[in-house]
Amino acid sequence: MIEVADRLHTVEEYYFSKKLREVNLLIASGKSVINLGIGSPDMQPPQKVIDALTEGLLNPNAHKYQSYQGLPELRQAIAGFYKAHYNVNLSPNTEVLPLMGSKEGIMHISMAFLNKGDEVLIPNPGYPTYQSVTKLLEATPVFYNLDEANNWLPDFKALEKLDLSKVKLMWVNYPHMPTGAQPSQYLFEELVAFGKRHNILIVNDNPYSFVLNENPTSILSVEGAKDVCLELNSLSKTFNMSGWRVGMVVGNNTLINNILKVKSNMDSGMFYGIQKGAIEALKCSEMWFVTLNSVYKKRRDLVWKLAEALNCTYDKNATGLFVWAKLPPHIKAEAYIDLILKENHIFITPGTIFGSQGEGYIRFSLCAQTEDLEEAIARVK
Ligand SMILES: Cc1ncc(COP(=O)(O)O)c(C=O)c1O
Repeated sequence: MIEVADRLHTVEEYYFSKKLREVNLLIASGKSVINLGIGSPDMQPPQKVIDALTEGLLNPNAHKYQSYQGLPELRQAIAGFYKAHYNVNLSPNTEVLPLMGSKEGIMHISMAFLNKGDEVLIPNPGYPTYQSVTKLLEATPVFYNLDEANNWLPDFKALEKLDLSKVKLMWVNYPHMPTGAQPSQYLFEELVAFGKRHNILIVNDNPYSFVLNENPTSILSVEGAKDVCLELNSLSKTFNMSGWRVGMVVGNNTLINNILKVKSNMDSGMFYGIQKGAIEALKCSEMWFVTLNSVYKKRRDLVWKLAEALNCTYDKNATGLFVWAKLPPHIKAEAYIDLILKENHIFITPGTIFGSQGEGYIRFSLCAQTEDLEEAIARVK
Protein backbone atom coordinates (compact mmCIF):
# COMPACT_ATOMS: atom_id res chain seq x y z
CA MET A 1 0.00 0.00 0.00
CA ILE A 2 1.39 3.39 -0.98
CA GLU A 3 1.18 5.79 1.96
CA VAL A 4 -0.02 9.30 1.19
CA ALA A 5 1.93 12.34 2.37
CA ASP A 6 1.15 13.49 5.91
CA ARG A 7 -0.12 16.80 4.55
CA LEU A 8 -3.01 15.02 2.89
CA HIS A 9 -4.38 14.12 6.31
CA THR A 10 -4.80 17.83 7.06
CA VAL A 11 -7.57 18.29 4.49
CA GLU A 12 -10.79 16.57 3.53
CA GLU A 13 -12.42 16.08 0.17
CA TYR A 14 -14.17 19.36 -0.76
CA TYR A 15 -17.72 19.51 0.65
CA PHE A 16 -19.36 19.97 -2.76
CA SER A 17 -17.44 17.09 -4.24
CA LYS A 18 -18.96 14.80 -1.57
CA LYS A 19 -22.42 16.34 -1.39
CA LEU A 20 -22.93 16.43 -5.13
CA ARG A 21 -22.47 12.63 -5.20
CA GLU A 22 -25.49 12.44 -2.87
CA VAL A 23 -27.41 14.91 -5.04
CA ASN A 24 -26.52 12.91 -8.17
CA LEU A 25 -27.79 9.72 -6.54
CA LEU A 26 -31.12 11.42 -5.92
CA ILE A 27 -31.21 12.58 -9.55
CA ALA A 28 -30.34 9.06 -10.75
CA SER A 29 -33.27 7.73 -8.71
CA GLY A 30 -35.57 9.96 -10.76
CA LYS A 31 -35.92 12.98 -8.42
CA SER A 32 -35.76 16.40 -10.00
CA VAL A 33 -33.34 18.24 -7.76
CA ILE A 34 -33.09 22.03 -7.93
CA ASN A 35 -29.46 22.91 -7.29
CA LEU A 36 -29.02 26.22 -5.46
CA GLY A 37 -25.72 25.11 -3.99
CA ILE A 38 -22.90 26.04 -6.27
CA GLY A 39 -21.97 29.46 -7.61
CA SER A 40 -21.24 28.35 -11.14
CA PRO A 41 -22.71 30.95 -13.53
CA ASP A 42 -25.18 29.32 -15.92
CA MET A 43 -25.43 32.17 -18.42
CA GLN A 44 -23.25 32.55 -21.53
CA PRO A 45 -20.12 34.71 -21.76
CA PRO A 46 -20.34 37.68 -24.17
CA GLN A 47 -20.59 36.46 -27.79
CA LYS A 48 -17.48 38.42 -28.83
CA VAL A 49 -15.52 36.42 -26.25
CA ILE A 50 -16.59 33.13 -27.81
CA ASP A 51 -15.81 34.53 -31.28
CA ALA A 52 -12.31 35.57 -30.18
CA LEU A 53 -11.64 32.10 -28.79
CA THR A 54 -12.88 30.47 -31.99
CA GLU A 55 -10.78 32.76 -34.15
CA GLY A 56 -7.80 32.19 -31.86
CA LEU A 57 -7.99 28.47 -32.59
CA LEU A 58 -7.11 29.14 -36.22
CA ASN A 59 -3.90 30.99 -35.39
CA PRO A 60 -0.96 28.68 -36.21
CA ASN A 61 0.78 29.76 -33.01
CA ALA A 62 -2.23 28.89 -30.84
CA HIS A 63 -1.05 25.38 -30.12
CA LYS A 64 2.41 26.22 -28.86
CA TYR A 65 3.44 26.81 -25.27
CA GLN A 66 2.45 30.33 -24.27
CA SER A 67 4.30 32.88 -22.16
CA TYR A 68 4.26 32.24 -18.41
CA GLN A 69 3.17 35.85 -17.93
CA GLY A 70 0.44 35.75 -20.56
CA LEU A 71 0.19 37.74 -23.79
CA PRO A 72 1.24 41.39 -23.41
CA GLU A 73 -2.24 42.35 -24.74
CA LEU A 74 -3.87 40.35 -21.95
CA ARG A 75 -1.79 42.12 -19.31
CA GLN A 76 -2.65 45.44 -20.94
CA ALA A 77 -6.35 44.52 -20.94
CA ILE A 78 -6.15 43.66 -17.22
CA ALA A 79 -4.43 46.97 -16.46
CA GLY A 80 -7.06 48.78 -18.57
CA PHE A 81 -9.86 47.01 -16.69
CA TYR A 82 -8.39 48.01 -13.32
CA LYS A 83 -8.09 51.63 -14.45
CA ALA A 84 -11.58 51.77 -15.97
CA HIS A 85 -13.47 50.06 -13.16
CA TYR A 86 -11.44 50.64 -9.98
CA ASN A 87 -9.38 53.71 -10.93
CA VAL A 88 -6.21 51.77 -10.05
CA ASN A 89 -3.02 52.28 -12.08
CA LEU A 90 -1.09 49.10 -12.82
CA SER A 91 1.97 48.59 -14.96
CA PRO A 92 0.97 45.81 -17.39
CA ASN A 93 4.53 44.53 -17.63
CA THR A 94 5.42 44.37 -13.98
CA GLU A 95 2.32 44.49 -11.77
CA VAL A 96 -0.04 42.01 -13.45
CA LEU A 97 0.10 38.23 -13.60
CA PRO A 98 -2.68 36.30 -15.37
CA LEU A 99 -3.73 33.12 -13.57
CA MET A 100 -5.86 30.08 -14.30
CA GLY A 101 -8.58 31.33 -11.96
CA SER A 102 -8.18 33.08 -8.64
CA LYS A 103 -8.33 29.73 -6.81
CA GLU A 104 -4.99 28.86 -8.38
CA GLY A 105 -3.60 32.13 -7.04
CA ILE A 106 -4.43 31.18 -3.46
CA MET A 107 -2.02 28.24 -3.73
CA HIS A 108 0.67 30.18 -5.62
CA ILE A 109 0.64 33.11 -3.20
CA SER A 110 0.77 30.75 -0.21
CA MET A 111 3.65 28.79 -1.73
CA ALA A 112 5.55 31.97 -2.45
CA PHE A 113 5.25 33.48 1.02
CA LEU A 114 4.56 30.84 3.68
CA ASN A 115 7.01 28.71 5.58
CA LYS A 116 6.02 25.76 7.74
CA GLY A 117 4.66 27.14 11.02
CA ASP A 118 3.86 30.62 9.72
CA GLU A 119 0.43 31.81 10.81
CA VAL A 120 -2.28 32.94 8.41
CA LEU A 121 -5.32 35.05 9.27
CA ILE A 122 -8.40 33.53 7.67
CA PRO A 123 -12.00 34.84 7.76
CA ASN A 124 -14.67 32.79 9.52
CA PRO A 125 -17.01 32.49 7.68
CA GLY A 126 -14.94 32.41 4.51
CA TYR A 127 -14.00 30.56 1.34
CA PRO A 128 -12.75 27.12 2.49
CA THR A 129 -9.73 27.09 0.15
CA TYR A 130 -7.81 29.64 2.27
CA GLN A 131 -7.78 27.15 5.10
CA SER A 132 -7.07 24.00 3.12
CA VAL A 133 -4.16 25.53 1.19
CA THR A 134 -2.68 26.89 4.43
CA LYS A 135 -2.84 23.43 5.97
CA LEU A 136 -1.43 21.71 2.89
CA LEU A 137 1.61 23.96 3.23
CA GLU A 138 1.97 23.14 6.94
CA ALA A 139 1.30 26.72 7.93
CA THR A 140 -1.20 27.45 10.72
CA PRO A 141 -4.66 28.95 10.15
CA VAL A 142 -5.69 31.59 12.70
CA PHE A 143 -9.35 32.33 12.20
CA TYR A 144 -10.74 35.81 12.71
CA ASN A 145 -14.45 35.92 13.31
CA LEU A 146 -16.79 37.95 11.19
CA ASP A 147 -20.09 38.67 12.80
CA GLU A 148 -23.46 39.88 11.57
CA ALA A 149 -23.50 42.44 14.41
CA ASN A 150 -20.36 44.00 12.90
CA ASN A 151 -21.69 43.77 9.31
CA TRP A 152 -19.35 40.82 8.68
CA LEU A 153 -16.29 43.11 8.81
CA PRO A 154 -13.05 42.31 10.68
CA ASP A 155 -12.94 43.43 14.30
CA PHE A 156 -9.59 45.24 14.38
CA LYS A 157 -9.67 45.66 18.17
CA ALA A 158 -9.88 41.87 18.56
CA LEU A 159 -7.18 41.37 15.91
CA GLU A 160 -4.79 43.75 17.67
CA LYS A 161 -5.14 41.72 20.86
CA LEU A 162 -3.74 38.60 19.16
CA ASP A 163 -0.07 37.70 19.19
CA LEU A 164 0.63 38.58 15.58
CA SER A 165 4.37 37.93 15.64
CA LYS A 166 4.11 34.76 13.54
CA VAL A 167 1.38 36.01 11.19
CA LYS A 168 2.69 36.36 7.66
CA LEU A 169 -0.44 36.60 5.55
CA MET A 170 -4.06 37.70 5.93
CA TRP A 171 -6.82 36.65 3.54
CA VAL A 172 -9.64 39.10 3.06
CA ASN A 173 -12.42 38.79 0.55
CA TYR A 174 -14.54 41.90 -0.07
CA PRO A 175 -17.20 41.92 -1.37
CA HIS A 176 -17.45 38.97 0.96
CA MET A 177 -18.47 35.44 0.09
CA PRO A 178 -20.70 33.96 1.53
CA THR A 179 -22.33 36.94 3.29
CA GLY A 180 -22.31 39.52 0.49
CA ALA A 181 -20.91 42.19 2.84
CA GLN A 182 -19.47 45.21 1.05
CA PRO A 183 -16.18 46.93 1.80
CA SER A 184 -15.92 50.65 2.46
CA GLN A 185 -12.87 52.66 1.49
CA TYR A 186 -12.29 53.07 5.23
CA LEU A 187 -12.14 49.28 5.70
CA PHE A 188 -9.53 49.00 2.96
CA GLU A 189 -7.53 51.84 4.56
CA GLU A 190 -7.66 50.11 7.93
CA LEU A 191 -6.49 46.84 6.35
CA VAL A 192 -3.55 48.52 4.63
CA ALA A 193 -2.56 50.24 7.88
CA PHE A 194 -2.91 46.95 9.79
CA GLY A 195 -0.70 45.15 7.25
CA LYS A 196 1.95 47.85 7.46
CA ARG A 197 1.87 47.99 11.26
CA HIS A 198 2.47 44.27 11.62
CA ASN A 199 4.34 43.50 8.39
CA ILE A 200 1.57 41.20 7.18
CA LEU A 201 0.84 40.57 3.51
CA ILE A 202 -2.85 41.40 2.97
CA VAL A 203 -4.49 39.65 0.03
CA ASN A 204 -7.95 40.74 -1.07
CA ASP A 205 -9.72 38.05 -3.06
CA ASN A 206 -12.08 40.10 -5.21
CA PRO A 207 -14.01 37.90 -7.68
CA TYR A 208 -17.50 39.22 -6.84
CA SER A 209 -17.25 42.97 -7.22
CA PHE A 210 -19.37 43.16 -10.38
CA VAL A 211 -22.33 41.03 -9.29
CA LEU A 212 -25.25 43.04 -7.92
CA ASN A 213 -22.83 45.67 -6.68
CA GLU A 214 -23.24 49.34 -7.62
CA ASN A 215 -19.77 50.31 -6.52
CA PRO A 216 -16.92 47.93 -7.45
CA THR A 217 -13.77 48.73 -5.49
CA SER A 218 -10.22 47.43 -5.13
CA ILE A 219 -7.98 47.45 -2.08
CA LEU A 220 -5.23 48.73 -4.37
CA SER A 221 -7.08 52.04 -4.67
CA VAL A 222 -5.80 52.93 -1.20
CA GLU A 223 -2.67 55.05 -1.24
CA GLY A 224 0.38 52.93 -0.38
CA ALA A 225 -1.60 49.66 -0.62
CA LYS A 226 0.87 48.16 -3.06
CA ASP A 227 3.51 48.09 -0.30
CA VAL A 228 1.71 45.28 1.55
CA CYS A 229 -1.30 44.18 -0.51
CA LEU A 230 -2.06 41.93 -3.41
CA GLU A 231 -5.41 41.47 -5.08
CA LEU A 232 -6.84 38.41 -6.79
CA ASN A 233 -9.54 38.83 -9.38
CA SER A 234 -11.32 36.59 -11.81
CA LEU A 235 -13.40 36.41 -14.97
CA SER A 236 -15.39 33.46 -13.60
CA LYS A 237 -18.37 35.34 -12.16
CA THR A 238 -17.97 38.72 -13.88
CA PHE A 239 -18.17 37.28 -17.40
CA ASN A 240 -19.77 33.84 -16.84
CA MET A 241 -16.45 32.17 -17.58
CA SER A 242 -15.83 29.89 -14.59
CA GLY A 243 -14.95 26.94 -16.82
CA TRP A 244 -12.41 28.96 -18.80
CA ARG A 245 -10.14 29.34 -15.76
CA VAL A 246 -9.00 32.93 -16.12
CA GLY A 247 -8.02 35.07 -13.18
CA MET A 248 -5.25 37.43 -12.18
CA VAL A 249 -3.11 38.60 -9.34
CA VAL A 250 -2.09 42.25 -9.25
CA GLY A 251 0.26 44.14 -7.00
CA ASN A 252 3.82 45.39 -6.75
CA ASN A 253 6.53 43.99 -8.98
CA THR A 254 8.55 42.27 -6.27
CA LEU A 255 5.56 40.38 -4.90
CA ILE A 256 4.38 39.46 -8.41
CA ASN A 257 7.84 38.20 -9.39
CA ASN A 258 7.92 35.90 -6.37
CA ILE A 259 4.55 34.44 -7.37
CA LEU A 260 5.80 34.03 -10.93
CA LYS A 261 8.73 32.03 -9.57
CA VAL A 262 6.24 29.49 -8.17
CA LYS A 263 3.82 29.57 -11.08
CA SER A 264 6.44 29.20 -13.79
CA ASN A 265 7.69 26.05 -12.09
CA MET A 266 4.20 24.56 -11.86
CA ASP A 267 2.50 25.18 -15.18
CA SER A 268 2.95 26.83 -18.54
CA GLY A 269 1.06 29.73 -20.10
CA MET A 270 -2.69 29.80 -20.61
CA PHE A 271 -4.09 28.54 -23.95
CA TYR A 272 -3.84 31.24 -26.63
CA GLY A 273 -7.55 31.22 -27.59
CA ILE A 274 -8.59 31.58 -23.95
CA GLN A 275 -6.31 34.60 -23.60
CA LYS A 276 -7.81 36.16 -26.72
CA GLY A 277 -11.32 35.60 -25.35
CA ALA A 278 -10.33 37.01 -21.96
CA ILE A 279 -8.99 40.19 -23.62
CA GLU A 280 -12.37 40.76 -25.27
CA ALA A 281 -14.20 40.13 -22.00
CA LEU A 282 -12.10 42.67 -20.12
CA LYS A 283 -12.94 45.29 -22.74
CA CYS A 284 -16.74 44.87 -22.31
CA SER A 285 -18.75 48.06 -21.99
CA GLU A 286 -20.97 49.03 -19.04
CA MET A 287 -23.92 47.46 -20.92
CA TRP A 288 -22.59 43.97 -20.15
CA PHE A 289 -22.76 44.54 -16.42
CA VAL A 290 -26.21 46.15 -16.63
CA THR A 291 -27.61 43.18 -18.57
CA LEU A 292 -25.95 40.58 -16.33
CA ASN A 293 -27.23 42.23 -13.19
CA SER A 294 -30.76 42.69 -14.47
CA VAL A 295 -31.02 38.89 -14.67
CA TYR A 296 -29.48 38.38 -11.23
CA LYS A 297 -31.80 41.01 -9.76
CA LYS A 298 -34.90 39.10 -10.92
CA ARG A 299 -33.47 35.85 -9.58
CA ARG A 300 -32.58 37.44 -6.27
CA ASP A 301 -36.16 38.70 -5.81
CA LEU A 302 -37.33 35.10 -6.17
CA VAL A 303 -34.62 33.74 -3.86
CA TRP A 304 -35.70 36.30 -1.24
CA LYS A 305 -39.23 34.90 -1.54
CA LEU A 306 -37.88 31.37 -1.19
CA ALA A 307 -35.90 32.39 1.89
CA GLU A 308 -39.02 33.91 3.41
CA ALA A 309 -41.00 30.76 2.64
CA LEU A 310 -38.34 28.88 4.62
CA ASN A 311 -38.74 31.33 7.53
CA CYS A 312 -35.30 32.84 6.99
CA THR A 313 -34.24 36.49 7.19
CA TYR A 314 -31.66 38.22 4.99
CA ASP A 315 -29.97 41.55 4.30
CA LYS A 316 -31.31 43.38 1.27
CA ASN A 317 -28.11 45.44 1.01
CA ALA A 318 -25.86 42.42 0.51
CA THR A 319 -24.11 42.00 -2.86
CA GLY A 320 -22.79 39.12 -4.93
CA LEU A 321 -23.89 35.86 -6.43
CA PHE A 322 -25.55 34.46 -3.31
CA VAL A 323 -28.23 35.19 -0.75
CA TRP A 324 -26.98 34.55 2.78
CA ALA A 325 -29.97 33.85 4.96
CA LYS A 326 -30.39 33.47 8.69
CA LEU A 327 -32.35 30.49 9.96
CA PRO A 328 -34.92 30.74 12.74
CA PRO A 329 -33.32 30.40 16.21
CA HIS A 330 -32.00 26.98 17.28
CA ILE A 331 -32.15 25.43 13.81
CA LYS A 332 -28.90 23.79 12.71
CA ALA A 333 -27.82 24.57 9.16
CA GLU A 334 -26.72 21.10 8.01
CA ALA A 335 -29.73 19.32 9.48
CA TYR A 336 -32.02 21.89 7.84
CA ILE A 337 -30.52 21.66 4.38
CA ASP A 338 -30.55 17.84 4.57
CA LEU A 339 -34.24 17.99 5.40
CA ILE A 340 -34.98 20.37 2.51
CA LEU A 341 -32.98 18.15 0.15
CA LYS A 342 -34.89 15.08 1.31
CA GLU A 343 -38.39 16.58 1.43
CA ASN A 344 -38.33 19.23 -1.30
CA HIS A 345 -35.42 18.11 -3.45
CA ILE A 346 -33.78 21.51 -3.27
CA PHE A 347 -30.05 21.68 -2.61
CA ILE A 348 -28.88 24.69 -0.57
CA THR A 349 -25.46 25.19 1.02
CA PRO A 350 -25.24 25.09 4.82
CA GLY A 351 -23.35 28.06 6.27
CA THR A 352 -21.14 25.77 8.33
CA ILE A 353 -19.00 24.78 5.35
CA PHE A 354 -17.60 28.32 5.53
CA GLY A 355 -16.67 27.97 9.20
CA SER A 356 -18.25 27.83 12.65
CA GLN A 357 -19.57 31.41 12.26
CA GLY A 358 -21.78 30.10 9.48
CA GLU A 359 -23.87 28.03 11.89
CA GLY A 360 -27.47 29.20 11.78
CA TYR A 361 -27.16 30.43 8.18
CA ILE A 362 -27.70 28.96 4.73
CA ARG A 363 -26.48 30.18 1.33
CA PHE A 364 -28.60 30.24 -1.83
CA SER A 365 -26.89 30.54 -5.21
CA LEU A 366 -28.36 32.82 -7.89
CA CYS A 367 -27.06 30.51 -10.61
CA ALA A 368 -30.46 29.02 -11.35
CA GLN A 369 -33.13 29.92 -13.89
CA THR A 370 -36.24 31.81 -12.75
CA GLU A 371 -38.47 28.81 -13.62
CA ASP A 372 -36.45 26.64 -11.22
CA LEU A 373 -36.66 29.27 -8.52
CA GLU A 374 -40.44 29.56 -8.98
CA GLU A 375 -40.69 25.78 -8.80
CA ALA A 376 -38.59 25.79 -5.60
CA ILE A 377 -40.93 28.34 -4.00
CA ALA A 378 -43.94 26.23 -5.01
CA ARG A 379 -42.38 23.10 -3.52
CA VAL A 380 -41.67 24.77 -0.20
CA LYS A 381 -45.09 26.38 0.06
C1 LIG B 1 -14.22 33.78 -2.48
C2 LIG B 1 -13.81 33.03 -3.70
N1 LIG B 1 -12.55 33.13 -4.12
C3 LIG B 1 -12.12 32.48 -5.21
C4 LIG B 1 -12.98 31.66 -5.93
C5 LIG B 1 -12.42 30.92 -7.11
O1 LIG B 1 -12.75 31.51 -8.28
P1 LIG B 1 -12.01 31.18 -9.65
O2 LIG B 1 -13.02 30.55 -10.52
O3 LIG B 1 -11.53 32.49 -10.15
O4 LIG B 1 -10.86 30.27 -9.35
C6 LIG B 1 -14.29 31.50 -5.52
C7 LIG B 1 -15.17 30.59 -6.27
O5 LIG B 1 -16.21 30.18 -5.90
C8 LIG B 1 -14.72 32.21 -4.37
O6 LIG B 1 -15.98 32.10 -3.93
